[in-house]
Amino acid sequence: MMNKLMVCFTILALMFAGCNSNKQNEKYIPDEEIDMSDDLIMSDESELTDMPEYSKIRGGESEKIQRSFENAPPLIPHRVGGFLPIKADDNRCLLCHMPDKAPEFNATPLPKTHFTSYRPKIVYRDGKYVVDANQAENEIVETDLDHFNAAMFNCSQCHVPQAEVTVEIPNTFDPDYRKASDKSRSNLKNNMGEGVR
Ligand code: HEC
Ligand code: HEC
Repeated sequence: MMNKLMVCFTILALMFAGCNSNKQNEKYIPDEEIDMSDDLIMSDESELTDMPEYSKIRGGESEKIQRSFENAPPLIPHRVGGFLPIKADDNRCLLCHMPDKAPEFNATPLPKTHFTSYRPKIVYRDGKYVVDANQAENEIVETDLDHFNAAMFNCSQCHVPQAEVTVEIPNTFDPDYRKASDKSRSNLKNNMGEGVR
């Protein structure tokens, strides 16, 4: 009996030893080595101390916020509480922002980029979707879809709701808009190829 128990403990001990020398652990980077400053990221006392207070203003009653820079995804000026979680098959953001619905709610309609695919052309071969071999390497094909591009369903991946917070870090970024209208509207679809050869 005793011997059996000893064998058991030895096996357990070996298992834990195995866990500790796990390769992933060796690659672990401590917090203080992640950023470029000598201090711990979280040690700055001017950082947030309270939970942020998110906007409670309904869509239709909020004020739009100037774009952070030309063709930046606009910030969400209204509350989002009732619309979460955003799911591919249950997306309440679309109820007001689809172009055919937007005028009724006075909401900004989704731009054309959200109805376009910018992924390489794919073909179905041998049971798999693969990048079309006839296509130049890394070529991006702009395909107009006649529906909302479901790859863009997760709105808050790019558009973020706003909270009332006090952070004592001044924002010195000064955006340069080429047209006054770029402060409040997008035109990325027309400018997508800019600077690309
Ligand atoms: C009940 C309708 C409604 C719903 C649902 C809704 N919105 Fe809005 N949204 C609006 C309206 C209206 C505006 C314009 C500002 C206002 O009047 O409050 C707006 C503004 C915005 C803006 C800023 C647009 C600009 O031109 O600056 C973004 C981004 C946005 N909403 C994203 C979202 C996301 C993401 C969701 C889902 C989490 C969502 N909205 C759900 C009505 C809605
Ligand atoms: C991958 C990032 C991404 C996702 C996901 C995304 N957007 Fe956008 N959105 C952008 C960017 C970038 C712009 C501005 C440039 C453009 O596309 O015209 C924009 C612009 C907009 C605008 C302003 C249109 C205009 O004419 O000024 C609205 C409204 C909007 N998005 C709503 C949404 C909603 C609602 C969802 C989810 C259903 C969503 N977006 C998903 C990146 C995204």
